[in-house]
Amino acid sequence: MENQIITPKKTIFSGIQPSGTLTLGNYIGALRNFTLLQDEYNCIYCVVDMHAITVRQNPADLRRRCLELAATYIACGLDPKKNIIYCQSHVSGHAELGWILNCYTYMGELQRMTQYKDKAAKHADNINAGLFTYPVLMAADILLYQADLVPIGADQKQHLELTRDIAQRFNGVYGDVFTVPEGYFGKVGSRVMSLQDPTRKMSKSDPEDCYIAILDPADVIRRKVKRAVTDSDAEIRYDPENKPGVSNLLSIIAAMTGDSIENVVNDLSGQGYGTLKNRVSECVIETLAPIQEEHKRLMADKAYLQGILDENAQRANAIAMRTLRKVQKKIGFAARG
Ligand code: TRP
Repeated sequence: MENQIITPKKTIFSGIQPSGTLTLGNYIGALRNFTLLQDEYNCIYCVVDMHAITVRQNPADLRRRCLELAATYIACGLDPKKNIIYCQSHVSGHAELGWILNCYTYMGELQRMTQYKDKAAKHADNINAGLFTYPVLMAADILLYQADLVPIGADQKQHLELTRDIAQRFNGVYGDVFTVPEGYFGKVGSRVMSLQDPTRKMSKSDPEDCYIAILDPADVIRRKVKRAVTDSDAEIRYDPENKPGVSNLLSIIAAMTGDSIENVVNDLSGQGYGTLKNRVSECVIETLAPIQEEHKRLMADKAYLQGILDENAQRANAIAMRTLRKVQKKIGFAARG
């Protein structure tokens, strides 16, 4: 056998809020790529239900959405034996490390967080302490698993920066306890834009017509694509600057089929926007159909899904506990018998 240098796998950690639905943008920009990482990295995907309660949640909805989110991840091709897919509240170390890190984070740092300022403005009747310390819990999520890489969108950059500052501050006092994580950003160009305002990112918090949800039925997908904003010059050409709507549709086809944009444009040249939109609907429907089927199967087999979540929480807990015990010892908590 050839000599091999064995380097330990790096750890990727990501948290996803169980609020709202995942969109085609999440699929193309994140989920689909995660399946390509599952052999090369230790990947941990956490359903962050504890973050979700920083705004008021309906208990039955929250419970269902946590399961649905886990099922969507698995249905998109993330093997729950290779990856760890679990609920944050099932691993108590998140709360425990979160508390400790609160004592190593300054009020001034949290006051500068733009997401806090936005959310406080949006939920003026419920500016709770959890909303304020949200980034500290996020830091605990990441640092508990000694994550090397954290896939995040631009809106979470400030939180990751704070996580790095907290880790470095802690390490500065107690030695190398935490891995200082880096952001992991998807390929440029894999951004899917809103169907109604193609100069903005497709987002689940916009009105329904703006996005395609991974679980949208075929007729809904057709309707939304049919209503997608294009332009009036009726020429199929890739030009994101001047033709953002048409270019977005072309890149969706390219992403779904794996074809180059150039080929997609050549294929469709001389055709009308109706044909372009039909092509978009059909390839989106075709890609999402097996995912939706698997999702349905998983949701119908709650015992199986529950078993997966339990097993994965145990795997996560084993890693988390190692870090937590080390931290507790470093800061001087009394040893356990
Ligand atoms: N705050 C993240 C968001 O809203 C979710 C999140 C929580 C997260 N913990 C995390 C993301 C840890 C990455 C790593 O998108």
